[in-house]
Amino acid sequence: MIQRSCFRNLVQSFRVGSALTKFGGYNSYTSQAASSLLQVCEPSGYSDDECAAMDWDNLGFGLIPTDYMYSMKCYDDQIFEQGQLSRYGKIELSPSAGGLFEGLKAYRKENGQLVLFHPDQNAIRMQIGAKRMCMPYPSTDQFIDAVKQTTLANKRWVPPPGKGSLYIRPLLMGSGPILGLAPAPECTFLVFASPVGNYFKEGLAPLNLYVESEFHRATHGGAGGVKTISNYAPVLKALSRAKSRGFSDVLYLDAVNKKYVEEVSSCNIFVVNGNVISTPPTNGTILAGVTRESIIEIACDYGYQVEERRIPVDELLDAEEVFCTGTAVVVAPVGSITYQDRRIEFKTGAQSVCSELYSTLVGIQTGLIKDKKGWTIEIQ
Ligand code: COI
Repeated sequence: MIQRSCFRNLVQSFRVGSALTKFGGYNSYTSQAASSLLQVCEPSGYSDDECAAMDWDNLGFGLIPTDYMYSMKCYDDQIFEQGQLSRYGKIELSPSAGGLFEGLKAYRKENGQLVLFHPDQNAIRMQIGAKRMCMPYPSTDQFIDAVKQTTLANKRWVPPPGKGSLYIRPLLMGSGPILGLAPAPECTFLVFASPVGNYFKEGLAPLNLYVESEFHRATHGGAGGVKTISNYAPVLKALSRAKSRGFSDVLYLDAVNKKYVEEVSSCNIFVVNGNVISTPPTNGTILAGVTRESIIEIACDYGYQVEERRIPVDELLDAEEVFCTGTAVVVAPVGSITYQDRRIEFKTGAQSVCSELYSTLVGIQTGLIKDKKGWTIEIQ
């Protein structure tokens, strides 16, 4: 019989003696460590020799909470700390952990007024994504109300005009207990915010993209169009490899033909040739960007011919300009794309189409240009 002396749960982030020492992985885990860990937990009050009292003849695959669970944490150094047992129960989780998420921005106008850009579009996109993932979702009114409340409560964090924006992150996650494959019995919707400047370390300077041929983001019938963390995690390997080689981000090709341009890790892509602006269609493998949609509308207003069509990667050889769009990214010029060791360069700068569209969009978002489209909401 193991002596168990005290109970601390995960929420208290308790670590005992040697638990503070880091260890290299599972191999160094010993039964001695196991018994010393058990000693920190509250006794379950039951004998280890008996089976729990329940109907063992009708055991299905539903979650039956047992007495203990084990957890250990790993931080930036990639080494798991000594873990520990605790009573089975809820865990503490950062609100900025993954799930089905959205991203939108609030700006501070010159007159001090706060504006939100297109929150209804984010609400609708979350609803579409939640349906695909079999999750309940907040109504558009609930979503916008939560975003407004969060923004106003964090008003002092909205940067001064011209200095950035408040990035608002609504998150929907399965938070209830489930063991088998089924929709979560409980979901949590939360909203948090953070002041942000430029997304890329390049600032507003042109991006250098790398075309990825080995890894793909999504395939038809999958969830490539859903803004969920499982849709971003697959890009991390390609992204870190490209960054270590000095590129700003990765441009992905379609998974079937390995030929058509899809999107960049964090944003949509546009290609400019004369008066024609082309962008891949939102057919389920790419994200239906709110900024993408706004830029299409602004470009049409300016008289450009906008085509949503499949773009063979070879077409980039003849492109005059390429740019990216996204809430975080806004509208970012692409200076070069490297594909199969060939570097293709594009026009950038003040006279570019990208610059024209960027100024108009940001002008509307920040209140410098009158919003005739009803895209912004003033809040107080
Ligand atoms: C956004 O643009 O809002 C995003 O969610 C991109 C994210 C990868 C930062």
